[in-house]
Amino acid sequence: MPKISPPPGTSDILPEEISAWHRLEDTARKIFQLYGYGEIRTPVFEYTEVFKRGIGNETEIVQKEMYTFKDKGGRSLTLRPEGTAGIMRSLMATDVMNGNEHRVYSLGPMFRGEKPAAGRRRQFHQIGVENVGRIAPELDAECIAMLMHYLEELDIVGNRLLINTRGTLEDRKPAEKVLRANFIKHISAMCEDCKNRLKRNVWRILDCKQPECQKVIKNSPPVVSCFGEKSRSFFNKVCETLSKLGISYEIEPKLVRGLDYYVHTVFEVVHPALGAQDALAGGGRYEIFLPGNKNPIIGVGFATGLERLLMTQECLKVIPSPPITPCVFLAGLGIEAINANMTLAMSLRRKGISTVAEVEEKSIKAQMRTANRLGVKLTIIRGETELKNRIATCKNMKTGEQKEIPSDKLDDSLRELLSPDLF
Ligand code: HAM
Repeated sequence: MPKISPPPGTSDILPEEISAWHRLEDTARKIFQLYGYGEIRTPVFEYTEVFKRGIGNETEIVQKEMYTFKDKGGRSLTLRPEGTAGIMRSLMATDVMNGNEHRVYSLGPMFRGEKPAAGRRRQFHQIGVENVGRIAPELDAECIAMLMHYLEELDIVGNRLLINTRGTLEDRKPAEKVLRANFIKHISAMCEDCKNRLKRNVWRILDCKQPECQKVIKNSPPVVSCFGEKSRSFFNKVCETLSKLGISYEIEPKLVRGLDYYVHTVFEVVHPALGAQDALAGGGRYEIFLPGNKNPIIGVGFATGLERLLMTQECLKVIPSPPITPCVFLAGLGIEAINANMTLAMSLRRKGISTVAEVEEKSIKAQMRTANRLGVKLTIIRGETELKNRIATCKNMKTGEQKEIPSDKLDDSLRELLSPDLF
């Protein structure tokens, strides 16, 4: 059969891989609930304006990477490239604008039209967290601490937490002046994108990964020196609180992050296992302006990429979660046994025992092959004789041991045979 691959930069997640994904998702739910967060789900597409205004028109994401299309009514829609803008659109309708705190997390696919590479997908999955409505440096530190707690719980060791400040909006102008004055001197040696960035959004230069630009960026003056007292004391308090909470961090003065909504704290967790795309997670404090709103919605949050978490766990040889397989296979010889097995399967499932029953007439050899392929722990075999004698042959698939069990004792015997795996 010719194989039809999914589009570049996307992939299928198959049943044998899913338990590793469940671990990431279940752990997120467990940890984030400990900090008082509840799950929110927003649409995978939004009006394009939500992202243009929310993330910033001059960002790489909005300029180059969005999947945008018109609906039948001619409205422009975009598949979400990130989760924060849509969540803010949703929370805007709550009392969050009155300074009331909302703690939410979300899980789901994101879409960015990037050049696919290891760890860089066009459809990828994020777990994101947002603490919305209040401003306090302690909240930034707690949010980072929760991310580190989550990574620890996933056995992801050897990562580095990088943090920086982007200052307040008022601090931007003087800092931009200093940056522009520096980069203008070297601009002829920099890439075409940076030449544009110099005119349109000088901060984006600090994000450029081109080697010729990196040389100039490395020697650029630290922008924090142009920031006022408010920005500096906020950042100092975030660092102080992180230290108090026992979280190690490195201040990275060139870290600005690729989204324009950040103010004050920005952070990224990087891991050497990821190679060139080394960001495992990223976030910061934000002020997000949405279409039709004069006032921004404020908060702090982060997102982590599930594919990158899995890649890191694989490199670290974190013990993989066992695949999810059914426990019991019911093999039936003859139509009566098959029918009886289908009824038995329903009753076992109601008792919490995952069961698959053969529904067609097949040789016992073929049915045992199916049982092996499914990876079940027990196979129950019934034919005409077993039905007549009200018994079932029960085979332990690991040891090969077989015993006959009276049909009315099947429930108790299964409990015993499947213990401690199940009960
Ligand atoms: P981001 O840095 O764009 O931030 O993405 C967060 C994480 O998503 C990255 O660190 C990476 O693990 C993963 N990621 C991003 N792009 C890709 C890709 N093309 N392929 C695979 N994984 C990827 C945000 O999205 C912000 N909304 C985070 C945030 C929440 N800030 C405040 N609140």
